[in-house]
Amino acid sequence: MIDLHSHILPAIDDGAIDMEMALDMARLAVDDGVEVMACTPHLLPGVYEPKPQDVIARVAELNERLMDEGIDLVVVSGCEAHVRPDMAARVKSGDVLSIHGGKYVLVEAPPTTLPPHLDRMFLDIIAAGYTPILAHVERYRWAERAMPWVQNMVLSGVLMQVTAGSFFGDYGHSARELAMRLLDTGAVHLVASDAHDNVRRPPGLRKAWNLVHTELGESEARIIFRDRPEIILLGETVAAPQKARAEVL
Ligand SMILES: [Fe+2]
Repeated sequence: MIDLHSHILPAIDDGAIDMEMALDMARLAVDDGVEVMACTPHLLPGVYEPKPQDVIARVAELNERLMDEGIDLVVVSGCEAHVRPDMAARVKSGDVLSIHGGKYVLVEAPPTTLPPHLDRMFLDIIAAGYTPILAHVERYRWAERAMPWVQNMVLSGVLMQVTAGSFFGDYGHSARELAMRLLDTGAVHLVASDAHDNVRRPPGLRKAWNLVHTELGESEARIIFRDRPEIILLGETVAAPQKARAEVL
């Protein structure tokens, strides 16, 4: 499986505190069947502002340590970019790292309020030749009320990422309900761990794989956990997402 959202890169944000924790997280991920993990440190102005070249260097360093330790995981660069109106220009200029240097950008929205400019920003990113991935859509408190907006964004080409733990209530009842509803409507394009450490928010996708396998079957599980993330890493075009069923949304 491929995990496209994690905070495994050590000492750069609120994720892994040091290299030892990062290596421990990597071992957990491998034990759980993950082969590739994107390092997506927060990019939040005034709070976390990692420089792209620094992220790339640290990813290379982590890959070296993984090899030295015999841990069968490959990490790639990226970031979790908090929304800002000029994001499309910043993606184009390289100030916002796309996933593995490709055409997909992981974007985080504010937890409590849907920003009025967010759809414009997504459309600008698409017009610039990139595909936005909305991080953990089920966890925003505004998302349940904004399902028609979510549907519109899906139809515009935005990919929706759900966090594995949400399916099991790790982020509360509402997030769990919404994750299941999105899954039922075909609006879950990616499932990722959003791992932050080796205990409280560890990596791992197997439990979520099992749930998606039960709900949607083997081939859809493969698309969500393996094939679609692989296409994203290769920088190719993801097939048009399945249309979310309007009557359910
Ligand atoms: Fe995250």
